[in-house]
Amino acid sequence: MAQLWGGRFTKETDQLVYNFNASLGFDQKLYKQDITGSMAHAAMLAKQGILTEQEKEEIHDGLKGILADIESGKLEFSPEYEDIHSFVEANLIDRKGDVGKKLHTGRSRNDQVALDMKMYVRDEIAEMDGLLKELLETLLHSMEENLHTYMPGFTHLQKAQPVTAAHHFGAYFEMFKRDRSRLADIKKRLNLCPLGSGALAGTTYPLDRAYTAQLLGFDGPTLNSMDSVADRDYLIELLSALSTIMMHLSRFCEEIIVWNSNEYQFVEIDDGYSTGSSIMPQKKNPDIAELVRGKTGRVYGALISILTTMKGIPLAYNKDMQEDKELTFDAIDTVKGCILLFNGMVSTMEFQKENMEKSAKNGFTNATDAADYLVNHGVPFRDAHGIVGRLVLFCIEKNISLDEMSLEEYQEISPVFQEDIYEAISMKNCVEKRNTIGAPGTEAMKEVLKLHREYLDRN
Ligand code: ARG
Repeated sequence: MAQLWGGRFTKETDQLVYNFNASLGFDQKLYKQDITGSMAHAAMLAKQGILTEQEKEEIHDGLKGILADIESGKLEFSPEYEDIHSFVEANLIDRKGDVGKKLHTGRSRNDQVALDMKMYVRDEIAEMDGLLKELLETLLHSMEENLHTYMPGFTHLQKAQPVTAAHHFGAYFEMFKRDRSRLADIKKRLNLCPLGSGALAGTTYPLDRAYTAQLLGFDGPTLNSMDSVADRDYLIELLSALSTIMMHLSRFCEEIIVWNSNEYQFVEIDDGYSTGSSIMPQKKNPDIAELVRGKTGRVYGALISILTTMKGIPLAYNKDMQEDKELTFDAIDTVKGCILLFNGMVSTMEFQKENMEKSAKNGFTNATDAADYLVNHGVPFRDAHGIVGRLVLFCIEKNISLDEMSLEEYQEISPVFQEDIYEAISMKNCVEKRNTIGAPGTEAMKEVLKLHREYLDRN
């Protein structure tokens, strides 16, 4: 046990207590942020005349050495250090002697950990944003390829109206686009630097907090030292945004699992992204999609967990907050893994276009268009709805589709129908005539695809 404290204690910490309290096992993930923050802190201390230039140089040299040695694997995290902050500081003192002991001037682990976590989240937001962007590229590519891939659109999981695979994917494009903007929003709010808030009440040293903030890429310093060390709102926002990403992935996975089933056969997941059964030789299972759907619960759990942890904590710092780390790290890693795997699965998945189109034709998805035909010939919509209802009933009894009815059969139900009804209810027309912006028609879709391309080029 090599703790940073102990002066006022008369006994060694019990080993179980030490283990229970220590966080190096997981907060070692913060080593880069901890070292970067310390470099900026030392630079600020020197600028303010609290350290000499020479001392700052020594400290920087020591910290750079620690970073390099951690990254090359030369320096290992050994459990005798309580947390990443103690680990780095103790190593600095080992390397540089007394000057290393000056680094912690005007700083506490409370503002230090608040800083490290914010920087970590900022870095990870950038990574997740990159992964989401790659997924959007995949979706856009697939949309461009499938503008005329007809499939049934569903409400209540009942066939409703025909759409295209491009349009269906476009719905998810919107979701993941919103997810990116949610992540960007979190960064805007979190981007104030807590360093220099000390344990909770600032410090008597003449720190230049704005300078440290600027060195570390923050928009400025936080404005209340108690809030600085007690605020974990940005983690709650992050876990909420991550839960939403998982919810979107999970819904998409659910659809892919259904589409990939024997009953649907709309898509075929690539062999590389499928798994087999140990007993049933014929099986090819969508395990990746199921796992992504399953891991959603784990990320939701992290959100509920941190909300619960934070709800009873009096100001300012309390050790409860150490619990933020494992669940945040796990949620971030889970989300990154899921986006990556999901992207691979979707980009290699095959569309069974014939089956999709056949399914769209078989479910009366063009019934609304038959009613619209009547409306266009002067029949009030409510009457048209009733007439087409009778057509559907007739087809169900004869086990045929609307396009298979003869013109005589149509005219027996309503004399308004003419030869051009077949054209009006053809799959091509049903889909491609829907050209209000946001609809599946080719013209509208092309307009939207152009906007998506511009968005991806800009962001
Ligand atoms: N490991 C601690 C955490 O994650 C760092 C802050 C420790 N501060 C303290 N007063 N014990 O919250």
